[in-house]
Amino acid sequence: MVRVGIIGMGFMGSMHFRNYQKIPQAKVVAVGDINSRRAHGDLSDLWGNIGSPSAASLPMEGITPLTDARQLMARPEVDLVDICVPTPAHAALAIEALAAGKHVLCEKPLARTAADARRLAQAASKAKGFFMPAMCMRFWPQWAWLKQSIVENRYGKVRAATFRRLGSPPGVAWYKDGANSGGAVLDLHIHDTDFVNFLFGAPAAVFTCGYSAFTGSLDHVLTQYLYPGGPAVSAEGGWDMAAGFGFSMRYTVNFERATADFDSSRDRPLLLYADGKSEPISCAATDGYFEEINYFIACIQTGRRPETVTADDAAAAIGIIEAEVKSAQTGRPVKISS
Ligand SMILES: NC(=O)c1ccc[n+]([C@@H]2O[C@H](COP(=O)([O-])OP(=O)(O)OC[C@H]3O[C@@H](n4cnc5c(N)ncnc54)[C@H](O)[C@@H]3O)[C@@H](O)[C@H]2O)c1
Repeated sequence: MVRVGIIGMGFMGSMHFRNYQKIPQAKVVAVGDINSRRAHGDLSDLWGNIGSPSAASLPMEGITPLTDARQLMARPEVDLVDICVPTPAHAALAIEALAAGKHVLCEKPLARTAADARRLAQAASKAKGFFMPAMCMRFWPQWAWLKQSIVENRYGKVRAATFRRLGSPPGVAWYKDGANSGGAVLDLHIHDTDFVNFLFGAPAAVFTCGYSAFTGSLDHVLTQYLYPGGPAVSAEGGWDMAAGFGFSMRYTVNFERATADFDSSRDRPLLLYADGKSEPISCAATDGYFEEINYFIACIQTGRRPETVTADDAAAAIGIIEAEVKSAQTGRPVKISS
């Protein structure tokens, strides 16, 4: 049994909580939040984009509520510390939890800056406990299918790939301050930047344009990831859509012998076009939030270091995002240093 302590019981903390409840090998034993009501499982004021929890309170029987993250890390019965606080607090808390000898799962973006993320990656490389950044798209069934299709060369080479992740403005104050959230370019679009890096490796350069609407950081971006001699790759991301737009994520990938099209807002989200026909692709009826947690618990139980995503991968994605910001500021492509 892996005994879990979750720090930050907002949208993601409660999402993780519910997923641990589905895994027989995991048990939440403590939760921590500076907001005492949330630490006691009262979620009546939550906001979120995908799969917002329907119940306003969590079943807290047998779970210790704490308002101090450090007390949670110090508890001997906690094996795994799961960090779901706002982004600027990730790196310091994760480093402390690793130093306390715990396994650590940390929400994305790994840190507010690439420098902080690298510091955390360094600590993770030396730690006794396992560390995994919660880059959920690498585990999202239809996205894992795409990765596998490329690894197995099922439909020939990729000629072009485009990604799109758009939503209405976030409803929580810390997201609306770009100094904290990094704007949509860091908070939202990082999912696609990381996935591009996962599929095709680091681009030679990025070329980005975008604008700031309300955070002081980039709230909507269009990026071309430049792969000389390779596929044509781009992504659009933003959270400045009009109220009521909601949230959607998409990809369209053109292989030599097929086109794959994913749209989270469709009943059959993944379609494969080939030989004049379109075929819906069925994937596991779960999501990346469950799959990433299930994977990390299995890694801890079997003593197998997580490989699907590492701290270095998550730090690299933030490095690419910072290059995208620089490109938008200068109006020029920015090289990615390897
Ligand atoms: N993987 C995804 O798709 C995804 C989706 C949404 C959010 N996130 C990420 O998850 C993180 C949390 O986002 P959220 O939407 O859940 O935010 P949120 O505001 O809903 O929840 C954060 C919670 O942390 C608590 N908190 C703040 N500082 C704390 C501290 N030092 N100790 C203990 N508790 C503290 C707050 O009181 C709040 O309850 C962010 O980094 C965000 O980018 C990831």
